[in-house]
Amino acid sequence: MDFTIALVKGDGIGPDIVAEGCNVLSAVCKKHGHHVRYVEALAGGAALDQTGVPLPPESLKKCQEADSVLLGAVGGPKWDTLPSNLRPEKALLGLRSGLGLFCNLRPAVIYPQLKDACPLKDAIIEGGLDLMIVRELTGGIYFGKRGTTENGAYDTMEYTVPEIDRIVRNGFDIAMARKKNLCSVDKANILNNSQLWRSRVEEIAKEYPEVTVSHLYVDNAAMQLVHNPRQFDVIVTGNMFGDILSDEASQITGSIGMLPSASTRTDDFGMYEPIHGSAPDIAGQDLANPIATILSVAMMLRYSFHLATEADEVEAAVGKVLDQGYRTGDIFSQGMKKVGTKEMGRLIAEAL
Ligand code: IPM
Ligand code: MG
Repeated sequence: MDFTIALVKGDGIGPDIVAEGCNVLSAVCKKHGHHVRYVEALAGGAALDQTGVPLPPESLKKCQEADSVLLGAVGGPKWDTLPSNLRPEKALLGLRSGLGLFCNLRPAVIYPQLKDACPLKDAIIEGGLDLMIVRELTGGIYFGKRGTTENGAYDTMEYTVPEIDRIVRNGFDIAMARKKNLCSVDKANILNNSQLWRSRVEEIAKEYPEVTVSHLYVDNAAMQLVHNPRQFDVIVTGNMFGDILSDEASQITGSIGMLPSASTRTDDFGMYEPIHGSAPDIAGQDLANPIATILSVAMMLRYSFHLATEADEVEAAVGKVLDQGYRTGDIFSQGMKKVGTKEMGRLIAEAL
């Protein structure tokens, strides 16, 4: 295959980890005779500094024209005092909506090699953890009408039936490919749009008789995630609830530096990124864990290019290097071999 990947390195550790993602992608492509071309697109604080806006139109265009996007992270204290329409995070929202990426997949998996990093009691995660959060990404309160009044400020949360239906169907499709268990999370005891959401889930469930469906209020879901996370297979939810629950789920795995994500739409195009932030305090010091980005590359191979073998190989290479005891600082424990960002990337590429 021949493909073009837009690289949005972003800020902080973004450039460090994207470099290793590329190394691994190039290595697996070389091994299988694929040709990959990289095009860089500026976004976030880096774009603000150079162009005065967080997402220059030409960056969005480069991403639109590519076959997929690999993104590092955006943001940092340097830009924290800017008004919200100029903050680096605006670039992320602009890319998500500009590229129509309404479906965000956030797996939370406990690696057996790292299970001691899980803050929950062994008994709770006995047997492992492998759940997938399917988060709606281009609607809800993130994109609703907002403003200020004389003595206040407001943000609104609205979902239309087509917006709900397409993400809920994706949730069901993903559940069908996994353990056929879907939990829809809402706040239907309070919110109108959640009541609509719940009724659409019930309706669409009729198309998927094999899937076991449940509903949880978001507060209860937050509690269940630490009480008994193994009850979950796929969680489908709106934009803000998914944002919050995916951070919680990531901490159950003990290592936010390990978790990838995919933002997708109905065709094969996608944007792939680690779920962690830009960690400006360790930027450029060869300290960041590149594994979440490397696993994001595996998701890209799987979802955008349907190269399951290549994706499996990247994931297996990560497992092999962890088995060999190599760890970046964030996942380091006594008796392991501490390595930097570049060495971790090199070891994984070599394991391929
Ligand atoms: C995420 C982040 C973003 C979000 C921020 C940086 C805008 O927290 O990807 O989860 O809230 O979606
Ligand atoms: Mg978040």
